[in-house]
Amino acid sequence: MKVLITRKLPRVAIDLLLKNNIAVQVHDSDEPIKFRELVRYGKDADGILSLLTDRIDEKIINRLEKCKVIANYAVGYNNINTKAAKAKNIIVTNTPDILTDATADLTLALLLSVCRRVIESEMFTRSNKFTGWQPELFLGIELKGKTLGVVGAGRIGRAVAKRAAAFGMNIIYFNKSKKTEFELELNAQKVSLTKLIKKSDFVSLHLPLNSETQNLINSEKLELLKPNAVIINTARGEIIDENYLIAMLKKKRIFGAGFDVYQNEPKVNKQLLKLNNVVLLPHIGSATFEARSAMAELAAKNIINVLKGLPPITPVEL
Ligand code: DGY
Repeated sequence: MKVLITRKLPRVAIDLLLKNNIAVQVHDSDEPIKFRELVRYGKDADGILSLLTDRIDEKIINRLEKCKVIANYAVGYNNINTKAAKAKNIIVTNTPDILTDATADLTLALLLSVCRRVIESEMFTRSNKFTGWQPELFLGIELKGKTLGVVGAGRIGRAVAKRAAAFGMNIIYFNKSKKTEFELELNAQKVSLTKLIKKSDFVSLHLPLNSETQNLINSEKLELLKPNAVIINTARGEIIDENYLIAMLKKKRIFGAGFDVYQNEPKVNKQLLKLNNVVLLPHIGSATFEARSAMAELAAKNIINVLKGLPPITPVEL
């Protein structure tokens, strides 16, 4: 049996597959695998360990001759055409849970960086502009007492809310279903998306990208943000109307925004690079040693299970 791993990733995945007598073909590069290579090496592979940067569309799936499982090295799987996979009886898996804390930590890091202008201040100091303490140097916003609107109360959204509550924030959330335990634990209140955007000082996005959430935070919704609002996106860029948000940031219509993901990733809109009320990260939500290695292990285990005829550990709903 053979598995294609589409990029260099923590060694644990390869070791586990080899230990289970599964041959491994690694696209050993820091660049995404090209369509041609994906088809060439994926064609006769029994499984594929893919990344969120690999577009596994219908065209590719239809060319896979033996594939039984596509294990995505991410919790999000919007890069895979799951309908086409289902039609070919290919199981798709993801890596939930193990990156929740890493992503929630990074969300708070972004929120604090925007509110306390950490990056701007750091650049100021680094460029030798600090000439002494000043009463109004880089004034920012305190977190305590503010309202955080969590859009999507899944694992990551709830972990973010927990951290926010420890900072003294009030929590409101938008979610399809009511999360009673979460409400009781953090005194969180479920509201409509419109109400959440109107009432929140900070809005943080934690939804998967799909046809329902694409452009969910559109221009009308963005217009409802409070004048001093901060918006943080560690989910997927396509959930927000990025151009409209940039126009608002340019006009200083809101206080700021933190981005870990972008609409045309990996391209970052050039206008964003000129703004100092934003913090821009290169999609590193899950980038901790702990999370990335656990993700590699889980992806490999999912493949091993399927190829042994056992149920996958974390299948996605197809
Ligand atoms: C995911 O797993 O979907 C994240 O975006 C990766 O950091």
